[in-house]
This record gives sequence, structure tokens and C-alpha cells, in this order.
Amino acid sequence: MTVVKNICCIGAGYVGGPTCAVIAYKCPDIKVTIVDVNPGRIAAWNSDKLPIYEPGLEEVVLACRGKNLFFSTDVDGAIQEADLIFVSVNTPTKKSGMGAGMAADLAYVESATRRIAEVAKSSKIVVEKSTVPCRTAQSMRTILEANSTPEIHFDILSNPEFLAEGTAIRDLLSPDRVLIGALQTETGIEAQNALVDVYTHWVPRERVITTNLWSSELSKLAANAMLAQRISSVNALSAICEATGADVDEVAYACGRDSRLGAKFLKASVGFGGSCFQKDILNLVYLSQQLNLPEVADYWHQVVIMNEYQKKRFVRNIISTLFNTITNKKIAVLGFAFKKDTGDTRESAAITLIKDFMQENARVAIYDPKVEREQIYMDLAEPGVVDTQKEVEKKVQICSSAYEAAEGADAVVIVTEWDEFRDDQLDYTKIYAGMNKPAFLFDGRLIVDAPKLRQLGFKVSVIGKNELAGTA
Ligand code: UDX
Ligand code: UDX
Repeated sequence: MTVVKNICCIGAGYVGGPTCAVIAYKCPDIKVTIVDVNPGRIAAWNSDKLPIYEPGLEEVVLACRGKNLFFSTDVDGAIQEADLIFVSVNTPTKKSGMGAGMAADLAYVESATRRIAEVAKSSKIVVEKSTVPCRTAQSMRTILEANSTPEIHFDILSNPEFLAEGTAIRDLLSPDRVLIGALQTETGIEAQNALVDVYTHWVPRERVITTNLWSSELSKLAANAMLAQRISSVNALSAICEATGADVDEVAYACGRDSRLGAKFLKASVGFGGSCFQKDILNLVYLSQQLNLPEVADYWHQVVIMNEYQKKRFVRNIISTLFNTITNKKIAVLGFAFKKDTGDTRESAAITLIKDFMQENARVAIYDPKVEREQIYMDLAEPGVVDTQKEVEKKVQICSSAYEAAEGADAVVIVTEWDEFRDDQLDYTKIYAGMNKPAFLFDGRLIVDAPKLRQLGFKVSVIGKNELAGTA
């Protein structure tokens, strides 16, 4: 029976970092080394200021760093020492070539796999952690097998990560389930059992699901597509609510109380963001197209189309409410991260909205409690276009508080649901006093008590709610 004593993780990102830190924390008998080609990132993991913000992460890292948890740029050394290697490199959507804008770019997964094949001096269990299209393991296997010898054998597992940012540590410490897929061969099943033993250091055995390799790969895409689909469904209903006077929170609550539907992921919003949902659905769409299943591809694609529509609809409503022009008006944007409790901005709705405001020549003032100034400029500049960052800096002001952003603004737009923007935490009387009148407020996250703010004088518009709802 294989017992894992030494783990290497390639890729010290949002997934590899927290996941392997928790493994080290819960398995003091296993040495865990997280490696990355980016020396800046490794230096940050070894410093007082970790490269990502995640509640509870610092405590976990501090408890085991230097004991059984190490961060290093020595990729080859860590591969050689390990019995089990997680591949957690990024798999972004392809920007050019075949499948551009849809298919996942597997170049990093491939180069990490080739590196393992090249430098390994003993048998390894290689675990796919990055989200990949169904059947990627097949390519990894071909590369590894082409390099295996009678002494060195490679087994491949799929172990997709289901953590959500902002709650990563909680999700990792008590996951709903851990999924491990393996080829149903003798050594495949032995490798699967070895990884099951790692997780059962802290996860109850009945929560560890073992499947074949392809089910595991597809389940990750399927879970994200279904979660995103619920948001697009409720967002589609929010448009109907605004037109009819139904209240989307009431509708979501009423539907969610049906135990067959469940209450989670039914919060209407300005649109979902994050590194996974859009990418994974597009992956599923591409896979369906490749399998010659166009109706299936269209079905899932509609979830993304709905999300784009929701963002555009929100912007259109802002412009029409502000008397059909926002030229030279000051728009205060509260929140830039794709959701609360994270500094991550990948695919954040804020980026689309603010680019639209800039197109309309509005002046934009942004405040987010966790996103760095440089990151905001980078997200708003067009890649590859010279000097766009300077242009962005002219049009966009980055503020250190919501009050500063709202000072002299014509409209306040809530884009991320940070608790500090709630009406029991932010002093909206003070915000109102500093604004141009009429003072408009657009709530893209349904976090304020609109009637209360209307009493203060604001003109309030909330997604999925009509001001006259329930009156006549
Ligand atoms: C993860 C998953 O792995 C991705 O498939 C999923 O869809 C989103 O979440 P994430 O951890 O968020 O990716 O990505 P990122 O924070 O970019 O981390 C990836 C790390 O891998 C980077 O630090 C990068 O430097 C590193 N890397 C990349 C390597 O060390 N080697 C490579 O060859 C490529
Ligand atoms: C998601 C999955 O939840 C996780 O299981 C997977 O491993 C990675 O992708 P993440 O992207 O970190 O996690 O965040 P999530 O909490 O799922 O939120 C995604 C987006 O949907 C955010 O922009 C969020 O604000 C939005 N959202 C979520 C809604 O608009 N309404 C909801 O009801 C829930």
C-alpha cells in the first residue's frame, strides 16, 4: 500500500496555496512543498504579507511554515523529493488560435507535466488540481507514459478543488465533499486510496467520493456551470421583477424554501464574476461543440449570455436614470472585487461596468477595501495598447474610503457586497450630504434598505426591485 509522505504542489496561486497549506496543517506527518516559477510570489508566501487575502489563511500558514510546509522556486528538487504532485497551475481561456475565447489554454499544465516526466527519478502520483476540460488527464498520461521506465511509473488522479474565494479555509477544513477520480486499474485504484488517506486525516471518509477519472473532471465543470446557472436564472427573473413590481428577494426566498431547490446561490446581482464560472462554462460549451452537440452547447452558453445582459442592463438603467447622459458626471463605484472578502478582481462585474462608464466619458471614483490601486489600473487598461494606463489614471480616481469616493458624486453604485457598505455600517446621511443633488444610488447587490435611504433623500434603484413594488 502506498503511503504519501512527501507532497509537492506546482503553482502557488489561489488554489494551490490555500489547499496545500491546509493539507500541511492537518497532516503533520507529511512534508508539503509548494513551488512556483514566479519568484515574487514565492517570496511573498515566505514573508509577513501573503500574496493573497483569505480569512484564516495566515493562521494556517504561520502554524506550519518552516515545519512541514515550504514555499520554494526549486521546482525540480521538489518534484524529485515528492511521492505525490499536485498540478495547480493556471488554465486561462485561450486568447488566440483554435478555440480562442472559449477553450482552456493547457500550455501550463502541459509544461508542468513535461517537467515532471523529465526530472522524476522515482515513481509519482500526479494529481490534476487545476480545472481542466474533460479528458485532459489523457494527454498528461500520454506525456508521462512516454517517459516512464520499468523503474519509474506514473499514476494520474483528478482531484478538482471546490473552494470558493473568501471562504477557502472554511471550505477546505470542512468540505461538502472531496472528489478523487482515478483510472480503474490496479495501480490507479492504489493511487486513489493513497490520496483518500491524505484527506481522511481530517475529512470524514463518507465525504470523500471516488469515481473514474472522466467523471471527476466533468463534475468540476458541471458543478460550476450549475451554480452559475442558478445565478443567471435569478438574474433573468430580476428583469421580470423590475417590470412587474414583484420583488426578486421575495421570489428567491419563496423558491429557495422548496427543499428541492434550496436557498443558496439565488441572490440576484449585477452579474457573477470570478476566475471560474465563465471560464468553466465556456469550456463546457467548447467541449459540447467538439462532441458535435450544438444544442447542448447553446444551452450552456445562454448562462454566460444572460450574465453579460445583466451587466449591460444595469449600466443602461444608470444612464437612463441620470437623464440619459453621464458625460462629465461623477460616478462613485463602491467595490471592485468580484465578491466580498477577497482582493481578487478576475472577471469582476466592476471591470465591465467601469469601462462602460469611461466610454460614456463619466468621471469614476472607486473604493474597494482590499483591491490594490495598481490592480485596478491594470484591469481597466486595455492590454497591449500603449499609454492606456495613463488615460485610465486621468479618468479614474482611486479612493481610500467610500466617503471620499462619494464626495461631489452624482451617483453611488454598489458593485461588491462588502459588509461595510451596508446601511447599518456606512453613514449614508454623511454620503448624501457630500453628493450632488439629486443624489442617485444604484444597488447592484441588494444590500441596502431602499425605503430607509429614500427617506434620507436618495433616489434609489435596486436590481430586481421596482420602487412601486407592492403598492398597486
Ligand atoms: C486555479 C486553477 O488551477 C485553475 O485551473 C482554476 O480554473 C482557477 O484556479 P489559480 O490558483 O487561481 O488557478 O491561478 P493562479 O493564482 O494564477 O496560480 C497559478 C500559479 O501557477 C501562478 O502563481 C503561476 O506563477 C504558477 N505557474 C504557472 C507555475 O508555477 N508554473 C507554470 O508553468 C505555470
Ligand atoms: C466558485 C465556486 O463556488 C467554487 O466551488 C469553485 O471551486 C470556484 O468557483 P468563486 O468563484 O470563488 O467559487 O466564488 P462564488 O462564491 O461561487 O461566487 C462567484 C460569483 O457569483 C461572484 O461574483 C458572486 O458575487 C456571484 N454570486 C454568487 C451571485 O451573484 N449570487 C449568488 O447567489 C452567489
